[in-house]
Amino acid sequence: MKDKNIIFEKSNNCISSYSFNIEKNEKDILNNIPQSLLNDNLSFMPDVSEGDVARHFIRLSNRNYGVDTGFYPLGSCTMKYNPKINEKVAGNPDFANIHPYSSTERVQGVLEVLYKCREALVEITGMDEIDLSPCAGAHGELTGLYIIKAYFKNKKEERPIILVPDSAHGTNPASASVAGFKVVSVKSDADGFVDIDDLKQKVSKDVACFMLTNPNTLGLYEKNLDQIVKICHDLDIQLYYDGANLNAILGISKPGETGFDVVHLNLHKSFATPHGGGGPGAGPVGVKKHLIDFLPGENVVYKNNKYSLEKRGSLSIGKVRSFYANFSVVLKSYVYIVSLGKEGFSKLGLLALLNANYLGVLLKEYFDIATKPHIMHEFVISLQKECDETHLTVMDFAKRILDYGYHAPTVSFPLIVHSCLMVEPTETESKETLDKFAEILIKILEESKTNPDLLKNSPVNTPIKRVDDVMAARTPVLKYSKDE
Ligand SMILES: Cc1ncc(COP(=O)(O)O)c(C=O)c1O
Repeated sequence: MKDKNIIFEKSNNCISSYSFNIEKNEKDILNNIPQSLLNDNLSFMPDVSEGDVARHFIRLSNRNYGVDTGFYPLGSCTMKYNPKINEKVAGNPDFANIHPYSSTERVQGVLEVLYKCREALVEITGMDEIDLSPCAGAHGELTGLYIIKAYFKNKKEERPIILVPDSAHGTNPASASVAGFKVVSVKSDADGFVDIDDLKQKVSKDVACFMLTNPNTLGLYEKNLDQIVKICHDLDIQLYYDGANLNAILGISKPGETGFDVVHLNLHKSFATPHGGGGPGAGPVGVKKHLIDFLPGENVVYKNNKYSLEKRGSLSIGKVRSFYANFSVVLKSYVYIVSLGKEGFSKLGLLALLNANYLGVLLKEYFDIATKPHIMHEFVISLQKECDETHLTVMDFAKRILDYGYHAPTVSFPLIVHSCLMVEPTETESKETLDKFAEILIKILEESKTNPDLLKNSPVNTPIKRVDDVMAARTPVLKYSKDE
C-alpha cells in the first residue's frame, strides 16, 4: 500500500528525533543560543528517527514531476531541459554565499556577470538597453508599463488606455490594470492574428501602448507586424513585446529590429533556468533609446576598470525591488548564453520550431489543430468536437495523459479556443519522445470513443487522484494541526 501519511502522523513518542547526547551537552548548547531564538515548546515536532526523516522526504521527492523526470509540454511555459552546468556554476560558494550588502570591491565578479549578461541580452533582443531588476515575467510587464507611463507623463500627455489582444496571457491585462491603465481588448481574426481593422478602430492619442506577444499564444508569428508597427507609431503608441515566447525566435529575429519599444524576457523560460511553483524567475526589461532615462533605479556600469551600481537620473521610475536582480537566475541564464555561444543560439529557435512542427504533423490528421496555416514553437489543439460527442471535458483528456507518465499540456488557454490543449515541446526533446507522446495522445483519443469512463475516472496511476481544484484553491490546508 502506498504510504500517504504526513510526517506528523508518523510520530511515535518511543522514538527520539536526535542522535547525540543532548543532556550532556544541553547546557553548553543552550548557553550559546540567544534567548530570543529559543522555543520552549517543541511539542509540535514529530518524533521520528533520522532514517525515517530521510526516507519520508526522499519518497516525497520521488513523487515530484519535473523536466528532469519526463516530457513537460506545457504550452506558453517553455519547460525545456535546464542544463546542469548552470546549477553547478550558480552553486559555487563564491557566488552562492555572497551577501547583498557586500562592498562593491568584494563583488566585482557578481557585477561583471550582471553587466555582461545585460550586454548579451541587448544583442539578443536588439534593444538599446536592458534592466535586469524585475523578478518575473509579470513583474517585467509592470515595470515596462510604468516606464511607458513615465514617458508620457514627461511629455505631459494623458494616455489612459492599453490595448491588449484577446489572445493575450492573463498577466497582460492584469499588469496594465495594476499600473493604473484602462484595458481595451483587440480582436483576433479567424486565423488567430491581430484583426487589423479592429486595431485601427481602437487606436487613438488616448492609447499609451499595444501589448503584443509574438509569436502569439496560439504559436503564430504576427503576419502583419509591419502594418501594426506603423499604425501604432504614427500615433506614438508604444509597442510592447511580451517576450515569454521569445524561445521561438531566438537566433532568428530580434524584437528591437522589428519595431518594438519595450520588451520583457522570461529568463526562467527561454534562458533555461528552472521554474514552476511560482518561482524563482527573472523578467528583464529592454527598451529603445527614447525610454532609457525611465528605466528602474540603478544600472551596472563599468568605469575606470571597475564595475559598480550607479543610480539612474531623476526621470527613472525608481527601484522595482530590493537590491538588484534575482542574481542566481541571471547567472544561470548567462552560463546558458555563454555555453551555447553564438552558433548554438542561432539554432535554438529553429530547433524549437522543428520539434513543434514535427509533433503537429504527427497529430494533425487525428486532431483539430487550431493553429493554421503554420505553427511556430507551440500549437493549440481544439477538443471541442470530441467533448461534444463524448460529453467528456478537456480536463478528462489532460488527466488521462498523467496516467501514461507525462505532464499534460496547458489546458483551456488561450481563451479564444474552446476546450483546448496547448502543446509546446521545446527544442530539448528527442524525436523518440515526440513520437511516443503523439502515440499516447492518439491512443487516448481512441479510448475517449471506446471507453470514456477511463478518462472520466483518470488519473488512476498517480499517487494523488483527481483533486477538487476549487476546494484546493479556496480552502487550502497548508499547516498541520494536531486537532484537525
Ligand atoms: C505569454 C506570457 N506572458 C507573461 C507570462 C508571465 O510570466 P511569469 O509567470 O514569469 O510572471 C507568461 C507566463 O506563463 C506567459 O506565458
